[in-house]
Amino acid sequence: IDELLAEGVSGKRVFVRADLNVPLDGTTITDDGRIRAVVPTVKALADAGARVVVASHLGRPKGAPDPAFSLAPAAARLGELLGAEVAFATDTVGDSATATVAGLADGGVAVIENLRFNAGETSKDDAERGAFADRLAALADVYVGDGFGAVHRKHASVFDLPARLPHAAGYLIATEVGVLRKLTDDVRRPYVVVLGGSKVSDKLGVIDHLLEKADRILVGGGMVFTFLKAQGHEVGTSLLQEDQIPVVQEYLARAKERGVEFVLPADVLVSSEFPDMKTKAPAHPDTVSADVIPADRMGLDIGPETRKLYASKLADAGTVFWNGPMGVFEHPDYAEGTRAVAQALVDSPAFTVVGGGDSAAAVRILGFDEKAFGHISTGGGASLEYLEGKTLPGLAALED
Ligand code: 3PG
Repeated sequence: IDELLAEGVSGKRVFVRADLNVPLDGTTITDDGRIRAVVPTVKALADAGARVVVASHLGRPKGAPDPAFSLAPAAARLGELLGAEVAFATDTVGDSATATVAGLADGGVAVIENLRFNAGETSKDDAERGAFADRLAALADVYVGDGFGAVHRKHASVFDLPARLPHAAGYLIATEVGVLRKLTDDVRRPYVVVLGGSKVSDKLGVIDHLLEKADRILVGGGMVFTFLKAQGHEVGTSLLQEDQIPVVQEYLARAKERGVEFVLPADVLVSSEFPDMKTKAPAHPDTVSADVIPADRMGLDIGPETRKLYASKLADAGTVFWNGPMGVFEHPDYAEGTRAVAQALVDSPAFTVVGGGDSAAAVRILGFDEKAFGHISTGGGASLEYLEGKTLPGLAALED
């Protein structure tokens, strides 16, 4: 982007592909981290006199307009953060978008409606995606890719559009790639990885990679029960991916061979039911040993012994990568495991990277100061796929 700014962008329409896919409670944004992350790029372009067209997806609407997934709240928040008026187009490539972009003054900023209201955005068919990219291209003279959280998606606005316009990477993408490269190229040891989140199937690729790289892997979140089951323990009614058990067993065996330490919880918080996330009514969980979860109970967070254990396993780290919460942190009774891991990262002198939409949101929702971490990535799947060493369509498209 610096080269682009040096060439001059005044009067040019610059399409910024951001990732404004923020968590919403109705129309209230519960974590605006992803919007704040794109502000430096949008501001630099606007200050240089560009007519900035910001585009993003939000959620997973079905290729047609759906008010529940409107970007209007995100556009309003972007305006607040910029301290400037931000125009909003109620469609993506229709009359509203065309008129809104045509009405931009030099230095003006507009947000167009959710890209995924159009089936062409996510289509597997190259021609359909290409046709939508053509329509997006008509809105701009230059493309800036800055939606790091979406670079692993081969979508029209991420992959096909940059091929149609002069293009550059924004500040956020440059920062994210710079940090994640440190984890793949010259990692300071011991390299300790904390993995959580609900599904082990989402993490298989990265575990495969980490077995070559990491010194220690701590596991929490819903995925831990597949690990416990793979070790022969009963997990009651906890989340379980039965079909992944053989894969997990193979990983555990490979970790042993390679000397990678896999650490599983010693105890867990259990309840007979999933907590009420609307009322957040007290759940009164019990603490049980992780190898004897009663048949009618589900595990919803790591327990107090495990919090201590994981903090001690993080204390001597040189580098920490953390992806995925340790429990259902949105409920106060199940937030302590995630809080303990966040606190251990804050207390650690290691270079700490928080990757993933949910863990990044958890850190902020639990009230931690972002500056206490080395880096908080805006990418969930994107950061994992980067670490796996995959070619990411949205980065490949910007590379030339
Ligand atoms: C994310 O939240 O990880 C990104 O915004 C990508 O969203 P997606 O998984 O719906 O493509």
